[in-house]
Amino acid sequence: MKKMTSDVFVLAHYYQAMDIQNAADAVGDSFELAKKAASSPAKTLIFCGVRFMAESAKILCPEKRVILPVENAGCPMADMIKPEDVQKLRKEHPKAAVMAYVNTSADVKAECDICCTSSSAERVARSLEEEEIIFLPDRNLGSYIASLVPEKRFILFDGHCPVHQRVTAEDVRSARSRFPQAQILLHPECPPEAVALADGTGSTSWILNEVEKAPPGTKFVIGTETGVAERLRQTAPGRECHLLMSNFVCEDMKKTTMDDLTRAINGGGTVIELDEGVMKSARASLMRMISV
Ligand code: 13P
Ligand code: SF4
Repeated sequence: MKKMTSDVFVLAHYYQAMDIQNAADAVGDSFELAKKAASSPAKTLIFCGVRFMAESAKILCPEKRVILPVENAGCPMADMIKPEDVQKLRKEHPKAAVMAYVNTSADVKAECDICCTSSSAERVARSLEEEEIIFLPDRNLGSYIASLVPEKRFILFDGHCPVHQRVTAEDVRSARSRFPQAQILLHPECPPEAVALADGTGSTSWILNEVEKAPPGTKFVIGTETGVAERLRQTAPGRECHLLMSNFVCEDMKKTTMDDLTRAINGGGTVIELDEGVMKSARASLMRMISV
């Protein structure tokens, strides 16, 4: 992939198709990508991922041109919550801190006190002075973090990721009987009854790291989007990795093709534009997360 200028930096999430991951300047989970976007000197960022990720890059780097190659690459979980839902929860629980998973729109982030990703959520929850935490929008990640930080009281918004929500406890039991030697690793967006039966739970990067550092020959069952298993075939070739269920695909993440990336590099794609006031408030929530 030939870029016309070094002023363009291409970021890709681990759930992107492998050709996009291989063409990108930086690949990461949502936390790593937010930090890489903030520290890149390039004037234009092309974000191969879904809209909330490109919005986060714009919020952190308002002076940069941020491009989402495919306009309708969204996140159904992020679309489950609106700013009015946050305002209502605040009224109902005035003493609680509001913690938003980054899988939210800029408008929702602007209503919150602090953001988190799946890799920073436990640290962020522990950093808060408040005893009560409104966690949104993912009830599954929220209940996982609540189990790790029992000294806080969590009020969970009832959202979920339709891709990870499909995982059942029976899927984990069945994988255990088919691959008795394997370690079963799940993303915390999976339902709690499945997470309870896994050998380990963590963010996309955590799963990659666990497999990559294991000795060759180690067996794993991976409970997250197929892009992670595909990447592991490249980065951890000696390990045996099985996907927990077939068709573990985020359709929105797979909307971006090499043609879309080429078009974006040549000046196409959707330019992310956000209201100044929204960006200022949302930036405070994101920066607070990064500083924890
Ligand atoms: P990570 O925070 O692990 O990158 O996950 C983002 C996401 O959208 C998972 O579905
Ligand atoms: Fe959203 Fe789920 Fe896709 Fe992640 S995997 S982008 S949470 S729909």
